[in-house]
Amino acid sequence: MSDPRTILVTGGAGFIGANFVRQRLAADANESIVVLDALTYAGNRTNLAGVDPERCIFVHGDIRDTALVERLLREHAIRTIVHFAAESHVDRSITGPDAFIDTNVNGTHSLLKAARTVWLAGTGVPHRFHHVSTDEVYGSLGPNDPPFAENNQYQPNSPYSASKAASDHLVRAYHHTFHLEVTTTNCSNNYGPFQFPEKLIPLMLLHCLHGKPLPIYGDGMNVRDWLHVDDHCRGITLALDKGRPGEVYNIGGENERPNLEIVQRITASIDAAFAADPSLAARFPTSPAANGNPCWSLVTYVKDRPGHDRRYAIDPRKAQSELGYRPHETFETGLAKTVAWYLANERWWRAVMDGSYRQWIEHNYATR
Ligand code: NAD
Ligand code: TYD
Repeated sequence: MSDPRTILVTGGAGFIGANFVRQRLAADANESIVVLDALTYAGNRTNLAGVDPERCIFVHGDIRDTALVERLLREHAIRTIVHFAAESHVDRSITGPDAFIDTNVNGTHSLLKAARTVWLAGTGVPHRFHHVSTDEVYGSLGPNDPPFAENNQYQPNSPYSASKAASDHLVRAYHHTFHLEVTTTNCSNNYGPFQFPEKLIPLMLLHCLHGKPLPIYGDGMNVRDWLHVDDHCRGITLALDKGRPGEVYNIGGENERPNLEIVQRITASIDAAFAADPSLAARFPTSPAANGNPCWSLVTYVKDRPGHDRRYAIDPRKAQSELGYRPHETFETGLAKTVAWYLANERWWRAVMDGSYRQWIEHNYATR
């Protein structure tokens, strides 16, 4: 493992990146982090509010700026990159795929080039490039197919998953051709604090609070394998500490659920929260739960997502046996914490919703 004293985290102001930064800073008092983030609609400085600025330097910049990345690696003597920065939402990749190629493919290549230039010059230095990827690169499973293993064929179906697949291939190629020391984790669907409310769980949660329709794509029986973000971040740290260079590790929660079940659990959690805390009715008077009615009444079936993958599921056995990976959260504990976090952090999501999210959601549902 490379020197962990200062690490570069790309996309550290996004959902998973910010949770990773917080987890790392809390776990190791000797580690410092440089966050490189372009602050797209999904990036938010407030996701890092309260972190020690002495130990976490924020750089507002683009991963495609290879010279900037080289400078950061040299100036901070960085030997570890953890690469989260990406365009990450499938629906946006359908309405506007270009940004996905620019950031996910060209951006990843820019980072690899900078790492190669700085780390492999002369006799080279110990280093690690960790690439954060997704299970979506493997395509869609049938109902009786075994979960995705690391040697599954790549069959990406959306511009998002195709761009992530391309980035995975570039990372692999830089290992095999140039001997860059890389690891990759392909993870299932995450949920937890700071997730931008365009993704299923926070979107449904906030729509319950506002009494807005809960848009179910298609028949609602698409299956995802849900993992709390803290467990994903623990898996990445294990891959950094114990992963073998050149290897890929699939990370998941063995927690497959159809979308309708996820929405049912969210609506039930919100109903229960309102029943237990009368102040919520005053805070969110347009929620059905404010009048004792079930939020499930908001469920609305909408036109399916084009090319909608039916089922994802992760086989985590390699990460379990090689890295000692085990999730700490069950879906029940993770979802309860997440609902509580969104109820306690109204200022955060109101600020997010006042910005680009609102414009996008209005455009998306106006044209759907
Ligand atoms: P996110 O959209 O919440 O955050 C992405 C971050 O990257 C934002 O802070 C954004 O500002 C930044 N960014 C975008 N383009 C950039 C650029 N050109 N230069 C610098 N920064 C840029 O995404 P997320 O959900 O936190 O996902 C992080 C990573 O994890 C992605 O690579 C994604 O593919 C992967 N992943 C996500 C999930 C999930 O369920 N969310 C699951 C598996 C893997
Ligand atoms: P999402 O959170 O966008 O993640 P991904 O597409 O990367 O898996 O969506 C999760 C599932 O929820 C997916 O099957 C699409 C579905 N979905 C809805 O039914 N309604 C929604 O409003 C959203 C955002 C997603």
